[in-house]
Amino acid sequence: MKNKIAQLFFLALISTIFFDCQNNPGKQTNEKMNIKKNLYGDVDGKKVFQFTLTNENGMIVKLINYGGIVTHLLTPDKEGKLEDVVLGFDSLQQYLDETPYFGAIVGRYGNRIAKGKFELDGKTHQLATNNGPNHLHGGVKGFDKVVWDADDFIFPDRAGVILTYLSKDGEEGYPGNLAVKVTYTLTNDNELKIDYEATTDKPTIVNLTHHSYFNLEGQGNGNILDHQLQLMANRYVPVDETLIPTGELHSVQGSAMDFTAPHSIGSRIAEVEGGYDHTWELDNFNSEKMRLVARVTSPESGRVMEVYTDQPGIQFYTGNFLDGSLSGKGGKVYHKHYGFCLETQHYPDSPNQPNFPSVVLRPGEKYETQTVYKFESGGEGL
Ligand code: BGC
Repeated sequence: MKNKIAQLFFLALISTIFFDCQNNPGKQTNEKMNIKKNLYGDVDGKKVFQFTLTNENGMIVKLINYGGIVTHLLTPDKEGKLEDVVLGFDSLQQYLDETPYFGAIVGRYGNRIAKGKFELDGKTHQLATNNGPNHLHGGVKGFDKVVWDADDFIFPDRAGVILTYLSKDGEEGYPGNLAVKVTYTLTNDNELKIDYEATTDKPTIVNLTHHSYFNLEGQGNGNILDHQLQLMANRYVPVDETLIPTGELHSVQGSAMDFTAPHSIGSRIAEVEGGYDHTWELDNFNSEKMRLVARVTSPESGRVMEVYTDQPGIQFYTGNFLDGSLSGKGGKVYHKHYGFCLETQHYPDSPNQPNFPSVVLRPGEKYETQTVYKFESGGEGL
């Protein structure tokens, strides 16, 4: 008799678990917020670790303290199937060999500065030029190519890694010792939060961003042209042939730059030479408040990504320079438009554009900004 009751109890338990899993695809009820740290290699005599963060829904983020690179980001689709939605490599060596900033923290100045030159308080500064005549993403050895110090933390509802780096006075031509802190946090709401902080001992310029290439159908699984994009932005920043702003801001209305209503990335991309690689001025750009600024849906998988930030602009880049020469994770070949970046930031070349919001940081001030990438499933397509 006792045995029968035990059997019945066992059956009831199994079917409850089964039923629960069926109703909550993607929700693995026995998961708890978790963090693991593994040695990944070494660079410049410093140890590089890979941190694996898992939340209670089973969402996984892997990142390394070389370049602050997010190497993997696994989120559920509408059926609960996890897939890695960022481009990247399987080994540290490949990141060292050649990467178009896959998953990295970009700084001290994300984006371009014309001829690598700017004036601050009457002094001219010459930065490294590494993109034709211009300075791009912090120079030859930007924050994407240095080893950061790393400390991990965990709470029941979130886990993360605090990365710190001291960028020395004169590094890549920038004035001032800049103490930088970037905190990655994975929450149980399927958010990847990035908090940026910096202080300086001399006036300098700062514009930090994150450079993941997303493909919500899964990395390497085709191009992103059928993803639906909405940008909360009514103006964009026109650029010259070297991608330096002309200094004007144009209305998006009626043009291929208009993503105020959601539609597929590919629908008018042919009208933009090479593909999208522009900054949009986000609505309420001077509010410094966190707000929803972009929403992307992949109709096949139902995955949705929302971007929240307090920054004035966003660079939307459609992986135009991917050309099939890089083999990524699992040997997947990355062709043109196989990923898109949504880099929250100030506008390019701001130090030389008096009408753009200021990127100057002075001693005694604190640079402090936040961006959140939030993932959902069940998007119907638009
Ligand atoms: C820029 C592109 C550049 C790419 C590097 C993007 O942020 O906007 O012009 O080629 O980074 O991979």
